[in-house]
Amino acid sequence: MGKYDEFAKKVPMKERKGNLRFCAEMDGSFLNWESMSLRYGLVDETGVIPEETDRLHVHDYDEVILFLSQDAGNQLELGGELEVTLGTEGVRHRIDLPSCISIPAGTPHFSPLVRRVDRPFLYLAVAFNKEFKAEITDENAVQGEGPWIQFRAPYFDKVNVLNFSIRDPYHYASDIPEDSGGVGTLVDEHVAGFPMILGWQTVGKPHNMGPRRDDGLRHPHAHEDFDEMLAFFSLDPDNMTDLHGELSFSLGAEGEEEPVLCTESTVFPMRKGYFHLPLVFTKVDKPMIFMTLSRSRA
Ligand SMILES: [Fe+2]
Ligand SMILES: [Fe+2]
Repeated sequence: MGKYDEFAKKVPMKERKGNLRFCAEMDGSFLNWESMSLRYGLVDETGVIPEETDRLHVHDYDEVILFLSQDAGNQLELGGELEVTLGTEGVRHRIDLPSCISIPAGTPHFSPLVRRVDRPFLYLAVAFNKEFKAEITDENAVQGEGPWIQFRAPYFDKVNVLNFSIRDPYHYASDIPEDSGGVGTLVDEHVAGFPMILGWQTVGKPHNMGPRRDDGLRHPHAHEDFDEMLAFFSLDPDNMTDLHGELSFSLGAEGEEEPVLCTESTVFPMRKGYFHLPLVFTKVDKPMIFMTLSRSRA
């Protein structure tokens, strides 16, 4: 037992929930976090994604929903098509590229409706609340019949195609960045419209993510004013638990850091002030995802 095992939460992946081949729900009580809940899954069929309700509803918290490619070699194409309806008028947004949907507290919406699946793709919902809950605003509203979104319309800016950059983003301030063999994207306040930072990157080969300096010394990384999550997800569509690889990072209070080893899909919700890098991917037999998430400003 490591001293910081309490921060390692194995992703509780379940098989088949509606049109999700795999699905994991991680609310605040699971994460031991007051401020965040996650839902993660692999979409392989058409239909409404199973969330709190299939009726038009609002949340009293901000939420983002990401749709991402499951194919590490092709993060620019989603592999399917879906609709998201926002606003009381039921305006529909069509999504067929990896995208982020921003749902500020109080925005009426339906759960995403998948229209086509060419190959399974990833669904990730982040609710900035300790639980998922919904208040139905119109029992009789029907999904999938409203007008399509137009330029300059309300909510036009709430659906954004994700931009990807090659290699690890340099946000970790490594002087000697190494090729991750993958690509990454970032959702921050400029995209979401409310404070958050979500980094999502594919990891394609062993590398030292750092941060590293020319002097070779350990350079600590902690945040004094916000909690942050590190997460590692398998991209294997037949087994979303096994990372098919191994990574380690140092974690803990200053001066008391311990190496943490990870070989399965795991999230690490950490309290502010805890050091949680450097990070080294030691074995990558299949590509995996490295995610960072916090309620903070860029
Ligand atoms: Fe919702
Ligand atoms: Fe961090």
